[in-house]
Amino acid sequence: MGASILAIDYHLPAAVVDNTELASAFPEWSAEQLEAKTGIVTRHIAAEKECASDLAFEAASTLLARVPFDRRKVDFLLLCTQSPDYFLPTTACLLQDRLGLPVTCGALDFNLGCSGFVYGLSLAKGLIESHQASAVLLLTAETYSKFMHPLDKSVQPIFGDGAAATLIVETPETGIGELVLGTDGRGWSNLIVPTGGTRNPTVVDAAAEADSQGSCRTVNNLYMNGPEIFAFTLQAVPSVVERLLAKARLTANQIDVFVFHQANKYMLEHLRKKLGIAPEKFVISMSHCGNTVSSTIPIALRDAEANGLLKSGSKVMVVGFGVGYSWGAGLLTWR
Ligand SMILES: CC(C)(COP(=O)(O)OP(=O)(O)OC[C@H]1O[C@@H](n2cnc3c(N)ncnc32)[C@H](O)[C@@H]1OP(=O)(O)O)[C@@H](O)C(=O)NCCC(=O)NCCS
Repeated sequence: MGASILAIDYHLPAAVVDNTELASAFPEWSAEQLEAKTGIVTRHIAAEKECASDLAFEAASTLLARVPFDRRKVDFLLLCTQSPDYFLPTTACLLQDRLGLPVTCGALDFNLGCSGFVYGLSLAKGLIESHQASAVLLLTAETYSKFMHPLDKSVQPIFGDGAAATLIVETPETGIGELVLGTDGRGWSNLIVPTGGTRNPTVVDAAAEADSQGSCRTVNNLYMNGPEIFAFTLQAVPSVVERLLAKARLTANQIDVFVFHQANKYMLEHLRKKLGIAPEKFVISMSHCGNTVSSTIPIALRDAEANGLLKSGSKVMVVGFGVGYSWGAGLLTWR
């Protein structure tokens, strides 16, 4: 008995920001340069009143309408988000009700960024293999746009809003294989929204300041130290890939498809070359939506399936990494 991904769907909000629009806000970059560096052409941005739960609801509704699976059998709802609707209650409770899931369903939020999908797989596998659940709906949903300053060129080209729904069910053979996780909280301040929690309340009328690179933000906005995140990733990702292969007693050649967190093309290409992975085995699928944080891996998996890259029996490695710092890698056998 094991746990396997039965289906994935995703939802992107309607409004789109393209590279031409960004290039007019940041004239030092052209639309072509932005695409070449980031691998992103458009990002979708949530409307003013559109929250993570709205995006997650749409993703889950698409999945439950497409897949012949009775929603009354979902017995655990996991929501990964760092932009919850409220401090409390947990947004997963709102979604249990809105999606019409049974009251016998467990539900919780967990706060992780780009490693969130891999952690979600780990939690779902644990719940299923310990007989606490038989069908887990894993939702990932983020609206980082609400945290970003419009004139912060370090984050505006990279992040987009979006949500994904992944249905994980009990199966005779396991589709979610070995997993390894990691944390280094020394990097906590390199990707952060500094205010709005209990440590530093939101500052009313906070003034925007320009940094040495010419990016503007207030203390209430998302801050990303891109070069530090880049350095952390180049160090952490190869070692987590090695740890996972050693644990599973596999070599990289035995993996059919690698789906890494879609941070940006510049960084992904550095990682791919450092690890010696062939481009045809390495998914880059973010041109239409940008870095959607915890949803990038399920979005890329869904796209790879739709494009025929993922086939039944494909051995897939997923790797998530970022804010925290937090990271994780897992092996999947595609159904
Ligand atoms: C942002 C990042 C691309 C900057 O790269 P760097 O090597 O540290 O610094 P540089 O300033 O030399 O930038 C390299 C190139 O990327 C471009 N660039 C830098 N920041 C950029 C941004 N925010 N958006 C688009 N392009 C950017 C630069 O113009 C430069 O282009 P050039 O080679 O044509 O001159 C890199 O630090 C990075 O990928 N960091 C991780 C950011 C990320 O993806 N975070 C998501 C959370 S996991």
